[in-house]
Amino acid sequence: MTQFDEKSITPAVIARMTECQDPRFRQVMTSLITHLHDFIRDVKLTEEEWINAIMFLTDVGKTCTEKRQEFILLSDTLGVSILVITLNHPPEGDTTDSTVLGPYYWEGAPELPLGADLGIGVKGDPTYYSGRVLDETGKPIAGALLDIWSGDGEGTYDMQMEGDVGMKARGRIRTDDQGNYSFWSIRPENYPVPSDGPVGIMLRKMGRHPMRPGHIHMIVSAPKHHAVTTHLFAAQSKYLDSDAVFGVKDSLVTPFQHHDAGTAPDGSTRSGPYYTVNYDFRLRRA
Ligand code: BEZ
Ligand code: FE
Repeated sequence: MTQFDEKSITPAVIARMTECQDPRFRQVMTSLITHLHDFIRDVKLTEEEWINAIMFLTDVGKTCTEKRQEFILLSDTLGVSILVITLNHPPEGDTTDSTVLGPYYWEGAPELPLGADLGIGVKGDPTYYSGRVLDETGKPIAGALLDIWSGDGEGTYDMQMEGDVGMKARGRIRTDDQGNYSFWSIRPENYPVPSDGPVGIMLRKMGRHPMRPGHIHMIVSAPKHHAVTTHLFAAQSKYLDSDAVFGVKDSLVTPFQHHDAGTAPDGSTRSGPYYTVNYDFRLRRA
């Protein structure tokens, strides 16, 4: 029989993996056990704190449904998601930075012609988005695909709207022969991540707000290139320095230029004020 003390328990647990056949799994578990035990010794975790943590994780699991993934939200709000993304997609030259996917991606948005309006029937200030998709050398990529989604001008996604409203503020746009893209949508507003569950309780206890700065999501892809999951953040947004999920990258913050009624860059006549955004994406060759 072997008895363990507060130090020797760690190598003892690790030593039980001698039969483990998967070297990577063994490496990950060894590090996890080491850090977990160090953390518990570091804060001298009490039994009450331990059971509270178990109950918290249990609640996180119970809050997950087909439409809600509270564990990913926990990962997002603890900076784990962006850490994993940044480690796996390190910045490379001028190529477009990655950020979080978030819970509101809906596969199968319709492919729309260049210049289409994704914001039909969506509350918010009309905004004309345009730019190019380039490769890492600056060469335009024809036929690149932008899979775009955002909340409305009040920060509400179609999936959160009352009733079954279907897809709103979503669409896929393909670049032309010169690598140009353009579409209309709305100017995205700040909004809170879901905070009516255990993660919300945790955020409040940490003294944190649940807000994200206004942003529009896109996955930009092209044959023979690495796809990038990213956002454009509105430069005027209030929460750029305190995004609840730490997703802001300086290179993704872009001005939304205000214009009075008149002729828009696509030649259309706007009867009210609108915004324009011009942004070039750069993809890394695969
Ligand atoms: C979002 O941007 O849609 C989002 C990202 C992470 C958590 C919640 C929402
Ligand atoms: Fe979002």
